Amino acid sequence: MNVIASADVYVQDPTNPQPPSIPRFAGPDQIPDHVPRELVREFSMMTAPEFLAGPHEFMARLHREQPPIFYNVTPFGNMWFVMKHADALHVLRHAESFANRDATPFPRDPDDYFFFIPQEIDPPNHRKYRNIVDPLFCPAGIARLEGLIRQRAADLIDGFRGGGECEFTTAFGRPLPVSVFLDIMGLPQEMLPTFVEWADIMIHSQDREEVGRAFTKAIAYLKTAIAEKQAHPDNGVVSLIAHAEIDGRRLSEKEVFGFVCFLWIGGLDTVYAALNNIWLWLAENPDRVEEIRSRPDDIMAVVEELLRRFSVTYSARVVTQDVVLNGVQMKQNDRVFVCLPAANFDPEVFPDPLKVDFDRPRKTILAFTVGVHSCMGGHLARMEIKVALQEWLKRIPAFHVKPGERIAYKPGGVIGPARLPLAW
Ligand code: HEM
Repeated sequence: MNVIASADVYVQDPTNPQPPSIPRFAGPDQIPDHVPRELVREFSMMTAPEFLAGPHEFMARLHREQPPIFYNVTPFGNMWFVMKHADALHVLRHAESFANRDATPFPRDPDDYFFFIPQEIDPPNHRKYRNIVDPLFCPAGIARLEGLIRQRAADLIDGFRGGGECEFTTAFGRPLPVSVFLDIMGLPQEMLPTFVEWADIMIHSQDREEVGRAFTKAIAYLKTAIAEKQAHPDNGVVSLIAHAEIDGRRLSEKEVFGFVCFLWIGGLDTVYAALNNIWLWLAENPDRVEEIRSRPDDIMAVVEELLRRFSVTYSARVVTQDVVLNGVQMKQNDRVFVCLPAANFDPEVFPDPLKVDFDRPRKTILAFTVGVHSCMGGHLARMEIKVALQEWLKRIPAFHVKPGERIAYKPGGVIGPARLPLAW
């Protein structure tokens, strides 16, 4: 067993980012001694055929088939797997015991290391970064974008509605959120297909070398874009970050880069995947489409329930001090995987969890996580999904998956169908 580095000696200095020495265990030969063997489960959820056959159904089944917390052993990393709603809330609300440092899986050059900001920054520094961008991403900031999002959604749909069919993911699911994101960031629309290609590889490829190559290209592009904004400021978020100050000092080059880079990762694939999942369900449930049409005033409740039912990603944490969670002993430097979609299916909190029920009593949903790291783009995502639903339902009659098409899910850290051919 490797010697575990002590978290006590780890000091997170965002201005001088060093690769943390917390080990990453992977595979059955690297199970720490304190893990009870009866809690070990060997399967890689993201690539398991049962998962890819129906990811959300698979995660709902976990509540019936597995203990509430188990130690998941995979070739990509060994982690405590947490899926009960209450346990997830506990982990996510206790950053002092469950930290974000080194919790992001994307590989980086140890000789030119940077932190993903704000994702990998723990309190108290974390809030200082969020304060820079939160005014733009808060509900009032996002409300100012509604007209732009609505126009873009309408234009996209008008481009294909007359043809009676579209491949949803490329015709609408991808271009809507990515083009809005590029505008917010102040990056050129021509980069849309290239960004999409890089992000897709980084989030879904199982080939670490391919991921590394895509990431290298993205790094080079973003560094040039940042230099350009430093020389010629504009109203976009890249420029805002490039000129931002914390504690009376300008952000260092690595802070600016790590911040822009994480927004890029967080903003490109998530809304896309959420839209794809939701539209697949709509296409398969025409009666529910009519229900949504008939309840225009409930649109935010509709969006919230769809986000619960089709949440697309996860939270990872590192244990900073020995803790017992729901009767399970976790030790310093253990890794924890909070399976947010599964927590949204906890039957004790959401009875009949796979059922889409717009009248459910309001409970905390975990699609965007909770606690200090709750998604910075949550209000933007909600707005985009709301507007996409409204504009689509205004323009497209009853629609369905094109006959003969088989829907396949992509492996990787964001859940969603790879293609979605629709017809009306
Ligand atoms: C449906 C769409 C989205 C979903 C489901 C989603 C989900 C999440 C989740 C689960 C986290 C927490 C990760 C963790 O706990 O480790 C997160 C964090 C984050 N997300 Fe999103 N996200 C979405 C859209 C976006 C968009 C559009 C952006 C950018 C414009 C964005 C930017 C971020 C950032 C910056 C963080 C880190 C926050 C922090 O550490 O303080 N997200 N997101």
